[in-house]
Amino acid sequence: MRRVINWVFHSGYAFPMKKSYPLSQVYRLLEPGPVVLVTTMLKGRPNVMAMSWHTMIEFEPPLVGCVIGGGSLTFGNLRASRECVINIPTVELARKVVGCGNVSGGDVDKFKKFSLAQSPASRVKAPLLDECYANLECRLFDRGMVEKYNFLVLQVVKAWVDPSVKNPKTIHHRGWGNFMVAGKTIKLRSKMR
Ligand SMILES: Cc1cc2nc3c(=O)[nH]c(=O)nc-3n(C[C@H](O)[C@H](O)[C@H](O)COP(=O)(O)O)c2cc1C
Repeated sequence: MRRVINWVFHSGYAFPMKKSYPLSQVYRLLEPGPVVLVTTMLKGRPNVMAMSWHTMIEFEPPLVGCVIGGGSLTFGNLRASRECVINIPTVELARKVVGCGNVSGGDVDKFKKFSLAQSPASRVKAPLLDECYANLECRLFDRGMVEKYNFLVLQVVKAWVDPSVKNPKTIHHRGWGNFMVAGKTIKLRSKMR
């Protein structure tokens, strides 16, 4: 469906009508990836947090860049263990996802609080979340930008996916409790792999 553009006219020209947008809110426009649940494990104690600031960096080996706040338990666990799992939830898990993003594992056991079932991973110590349709076992690959941006580059060393989930309804963070749910897929002649 075509987007309807409203036009403004001045100096004899027509311009699409747009308004200035606060720079502090720009992240809400460029929020492409699904919200994920990052599990970590340190000294036999698992933790989980919600994360939306991530990006693919390389096809193979798959590298994922993530921004993880330095005050979180996840950041400390990841820095020390150099491992995690990126678990990809669908909309059915949305409330649990937000819950995992609203409290710290330093204060509560989120697995108990949100009844999150877990299974052992094959290549890392952090657990796989059973209810998530995909799980990416990751190792810390590059910490060159950790000090400056809390940006960690992870290598996916093993990936799992539930073959019964054909069109995963992932959730995408739009800021302040707003989420976009993945919708229909369209197919175009794109040259991008
Ligand atoms: C939808 C959503 C997305 C979030 N994305 C991120 C993120 O990309 N990076 C981050 O550091 N924290 C993010 N958070 C906040 C963490 O999940 C939150 O600080 C959490 O309490 C950290 O838990 P931990 O201390 O147990 O590691 C997000 C929270 C929500 C609700």
